[in-house]
Amino acid sequence: MAEDVFKKLVAHCKEYGYVFQSSEIYDGLGAVYDYGQNGVGLKNNIKKYWWDSMVMHHENVVGIDSAIFMHPTTWKASGHVDAFNDPLIDNKDSKKRYRADVLIEEQLAKIEAKIDKEIEKAKKRFGDSFDEEQFKTTNPRVLNNQEKWDALHKRFSDALNDNNLEELKQIIVDEEIACPISGTKNWTDVRQFNLMFATEMGSTADGAQKIYLRPETAQGIFVNYLNVQKTGRMKLPFGIAQIGKAFRNEIVARQFIFRMREFEQMEMQFFVKPGTELDWFEKWKTTRMSWHQALGFGEENYRFHKHEKLAHYANAAVDVEYKFPFGFKEVEGIHSRTDFDLSQHQEYSGKKIQYYDPEEGKSYVPYVVETSIGVDRMFLQVMAASYREEEIEDANGKKDTRVVLTLPPVLAPVKLAVLPLVKKDGLPEKAREIIDDLKFDFNCQYDEKDSIGKRYRRMDAIGTPFCVTIDHQTMEDNTVTIRYRDTMEQDRVEISKLHGIIAEAVSMKGIFAKLK
Ligand code: GAP
Repeated sequence: MAEDVFKKLVAHCKEYGYVFQSSEIYDGLGAVYDYGQNGVGLKNNIKKYWWDSMVMHHENVVGIDSAIFMHPTTWKASGHVDAFNDPLIDNKDSKKRYRADVLIEEQLAKIEAKIDKEIEKAKKRFGDSFDEEQFKTTNPRVLNNQEKWDALHKRFSDALNDNNLEELKQIIVDEEIACPISGTKNWTDVRQFNLMFATEMGSTADGAQKIYLRPETAQGIFVNYLNVQKTGRMKLPFGIAQIGKAFRNEIVARQFIFRMREFEQMEMQFFVKPGTELDWFEKWKTTRMSWHQALGFGEENYRFHKHEKLAHYANAAVDVEYKFPFGFKEVEGIHSRTDFDLSQHQEYSGKKIQYYDPEEGKSYVPYVVETSIGVDRMFLQVMAASYREEEIEDANGKKDTRVVLTLPPVLAPVKLAVLPLVKKDGLPEKAREIIDDLKFDFNCQYDEKDSIGKRYRRMDAIGTPFCVTIDHQTMEDNTVTIRYRDTMEQDRVEISKLHGIIAEAVSMKGIFAKLK
């Protein structure tokens, strides 16, 4: 059911100019996508919401824009050359390649789904008197599945922590996980695969240098730590934020723009005094969760997922997860990265990367708390949360389905549509006049084709929060009807009031006021 909704969402993204497969006329390029005329607007608004909340609203956070290409030693120092790997396994019959950890995670999710199903069934059976906690701790089927989940989860975490590839394979064999394509359990061994894309800089005659397309934007921030700290006279604690492209040769590239090979990140590295990092980690957790929840998609749809396996450089890590149609999945990572990255760059570059703390009277390598969110994944989250199919009745009482994107007005790519009821009697000219007045503040769209009902539906489908209709009365008294996307209600208002009504609904100020 939820999978069906997801398929429809993907089709909707294409039909309404949000997301296209890259190089589609050549049959596309796997896990690479282009954003269309509406997608680019939504993407830019998501980036603005993030950038303003980070850089404009924090006196001690500044932004940069570093290059995609970096000196190759950067990736040696960061550990990406040696350890940015995924554990892969091939099915010998279908010749399909999978991430071993993902296969096991999917197995865990299947057990979780069984537990949820039991709970849902019992909820329906017992109605208001249902005590979920009691049910979970006493129902034999739930207990049995929970035991299975705990055992598998422990085995999986241990294998990941020990980097034990044989054990990962053994789990797949013991759990009898089959290839979804061939249906067989005929697996190769598990081996590591580096995710970085490499290319060459300079001509071969000059001795070309192997360089990488950055797999995260964070390293561009670390190598600029000294530049920003010195030129900005920054005092700890302070942050550096950046939005930019990242590239990963993802093997399991599925679920549309959830996992891509070229994507965009919004990352912020917050530099702090050693010993204070876990307090800052908690503060940024609260700040970031509040940023997500302020969009109004329902608090119950978000959760923190604590990392079982901490990277060797981290002393705390959580993901912010959202309930996508295919389950709770990571949208953002928040990591306490200790002094690992700066110390590594200090060692590999031979340059002193330290902060002189006037209060302590000594220099040290700052610790770092990182917040890292994918623009594209956030885009998918917003689209998934906004896509609705509603049963409605038209003016004649006929039942119909309306597809509507209930995008938060601040993020909607088109803020209002101006629609002359007919293409004559000066109505189109009046509509253009209104657009000319409002277009400096809001992205407006003019549409005169088809019946007014069809035009409303087109605007619902791209998520336009307001439709303004010009009719003959407008020519007499300078009033228009304004239709609200979510309720479909209409008001008659003076043209001079439009700016105020729209500005209030689409301004970022309202949403920023909700942030913790
Ligand atoms: N600097 C830390 C870092 O890159 P990460 O967990 O690998 O951490 C952070 O990535 C975020 O970037 C993820 O939470 C996700 O939103 C996004 N992301 C990572 N890989 C992605 C991919 N292949 N496609 C789309 N988004 C991705």
